[in-house]
Amino acid sequence: MSKIGVGFIGAGGIAQGQHMPNYAKLSDRVEMVAVADINESSARAAAERFHIPHVYTDYREMLQRDDIHAVVVSTPNFAHRDAAIAALEAGKHVHCEKPLARNAREAREMTQAARRTGKLLHVSLQWRFSGPAQFLHKYIVEEGNIGEVYYARAHALRRRGIPGWGVFIDKEKQGGGPLIDIGVHILDTTLWLMGYPKPVAAFGATYVKFGNRPDVVGLMGQWDHTKFTVEDFAVGLIRFENGATVTLESSFCANIERDEFNTLLLGDKGGVFADPLSERPVRIATEQNRTLYNIEPAHLPSANSYQANVEAFVDAVIHNKPAPIPAEHGFYLNAIMDAIYESSETGREVVIDVSLD
Ligand SMILES: NC(=O)c1ccc[n+]([C@@H]2O[C@H](COP(=O)([O-])OP(=O)(O)OC[C@H]3O[C@@H](n4cnc5c(N)ncnc54)[C@H](O)[C@@H]3O)[C@@H](O)[C@H]2O)c1
Repeated sequence: MSKIGVGFIGAGGIAQGQHMPNYAKLSDRVEMVAVADINESSARAAAERFHIPHVYTDYREMLQRDDIHAVVVSTPNFAHRDAAIAALEAGKHVHCEKPLARNAREAREMTQAARRTGKLLHVSLQWRFSGPAQFLHKYIVEEGNIGEVYYARAHALRRRGIPGWGVFIDKEKQGGGPLIDIGVHILDTTLWLMGYPKPVAAFGATYVKFGNRPDVVGLMGQWDHTKFTVEDFAVGLIRFENGATVTLESSFCANIERDEFNTLLLGDKGGVFADPLSERPVRIATEQNRTLYNIEPAHLPSANSYQANVEAFVDAVIHNKPAPIPAEHGFYLNAIMDAIYESSETGREVVIDVSLD
């Protein structure tokens, strides 16, 4: 197959801001067939803007079309599971937004559905496609330049970044706050750069210190503090089967000088600080012949990570390749985050079960 039909489930911010424009760029390989949104005016607006001929308010009707081979699920998290499983069972490949699901139970069902149907379930963790991450995967995982990576410290921290739109502050609809919304990205990038070790346990804590107050400034819009049911800061210590550990900090709101989105990886031959949004995105510290070196690449490949993410999925569908970012990784992430949330409630380390049988 050289050209595929694509349908969209959810026509909100990320669908119109990233997915639709990037799928539209691949008009030699992609026919944008239909869009479904429970909010008809959103679906119609997207259809008009991106010249998508068919509009639905019920994605199950859209999924009956034979001219759709793949769907993009970009609803809020609470609808990922049902939409993705319905699409897989209708014989469609699925490009699902992150996090894969609200929790590991839903993510497990989705991963099992992908295995059962033999269709691709690709998770939109596009940071892997950024220039620094692509370089570092080759440098660390493929070439082994920093040796055994035994520890990482991942940060996805906003100073005053509680989203003022959507359902990002609703625990029931999202599954959690900054941990599940932005922590998931830096955790995924970190684990990818460590070769995706199997998680075995996590200890964590979450806090609400700002989101439920009316007097806090909002740099990403003003949210309704009476509806804030997620954490605004989370910390976790995750242990892996290979002995490695990762600490993860994530906030929507914290008293810090500036936002952070970075990860530090410690190996026995070198350390890497990956800071993809800064002017110095990759810094390497190492020792050779009893001499210490700080190394910075003078040039890194640049990539539009959203576009590369879409292209990788379309290429996998057309050429019968595995999902570029497999559901199993999304499931690991949900299992880790569940354990951090549970540990915060119990005060104890929580064992992580990533079995799929
Ligand atoms: N990869 C990234 O960096 C990134 C960035 C932003 C958002 N996201 C993810 O994308 C998803 C959507 O986020 P958003 O910012 O676009 O939210 P949004 O609120 O702007 O849009 C969500 C849309 O889904 C629709 N919807 C809700 N339930 C539906 C259903 N059952 N069937 C069809 N449509 C339904 C809503 O009407 C809305 O139009 C979330 O999972 C979020 O985590 C990912």
